[in-house]
Amino acid sequence: MPTALVTGVSRGLGAHLCRALKTSGHRVLGVGLATAPTHGHLDDYRVTDLRDPLPPDLFADEEIDVLVHNAGVYVDDPRRGYGDLFALSVPDLRDTFEVNLFGAARVVQRYAPPMLARGSGRVVCVSSGMGRLQDADGASFAYRSSKLALNALVLSVARHFDAGRGDLAAFAYCPGWIRTDMGTGDAPLDPGPVAEDLVRLLDRPAAEANGRFFRGGAELGWDTRGPFVGPAAESGGGVPPRRAGRGRG
Ligand SMILES: NC(=O)c1ccc[n+]([C@@H]2O[C@H](COP(=O)([O-])OP(=O)(O)OC[C@H]3O[C@@H](n4cnc5c(N)ncnc54)[C@H](OP(=O)(O)O)[C@@H]3O)[C@@H](O)[C@H]2O)c1
Repeated sequence: MPTALVTGVSRGLGAHLCRALKTSGHRVLGVGLATAPTHGHLDDYRVTDLRDPLPPDLFADEEIDVLVHNAGVYVDDPRRGYGDLFALSVPDLRDTFEVNLFGAARVVQRYAPPMLARGSGRVVCVSSGMGRLQDADGASFAYRSSKLALNALVLSVARHFDAGRGDLAAFAYCPGWIRTDMGTGDAPLDPGPVAEDLVRLLDRPAAEANGRFFRGGAELGWDTRGPFVGPAAESGGGVPPRRAGRGRG
């Protein structure tokens, strides 16, 4: 039975990922801030704040086949009244990176090298379309830039995996705008099927998944291409003009 480790598991997409992984036959381990998740789809759980260095003994005896870094924060969410780039505090920028990037780097650096050594494994980082290079609207800079950096982390792991031998893939996954605490009740998508889409991607041959960025079951791509600002964008010939403050998560 393959073992999956998921970050951020007590609620939102993470809870649905645990259910979908369990249903697909995985042993499921989780970390997060909650004292004790109540959904019952976990084989083991450790309270772990990803803003801190990982405890040396965190699942040290486990062979992790699938790592899903799902935990994330959206501190500078304009829907919750946060201002634009020029109102962003550096501590909030730092806090965002602590979870969305440094937390990811911590688990990747701990659990990806054994996969490389074994020649099998999957690393998935839950990212966001808002982390594509040109997907910027003047707000949500902390969230967007942390996900952009997370995407760079995925590509770096994918390079290592590509150079390794065996069944190895690292990819980023955007869930779309989902109904969770982060996404709010206005979101159009149910996180349940979105979690199932992610778990199905784990079965893709490594060569069709490594170094890619998916949304749902389809490839999203790492950038939106075309000009971001300027005449082509304003005339509708390229990327549509951006409205400040429409962040989805
Ligand atoms: N919602 C959307 O529309 C949307 C869109 C695009 C991308 N995403 C991405 O999808 C992922 C899941 O989002 P969600 O909507 O499910 O968010 P959510 O409901 O706000 O849940 C966030 C999760 O992150 C965990 N977390 C936060 N800070 C943590 C820390 N310091 N250490 C450990 N765990 C921490 C939380 O753990 P506890 O439960 O233990 O507190 C929680 O499980 C995120 O990476 C998010 O950026 C979401």
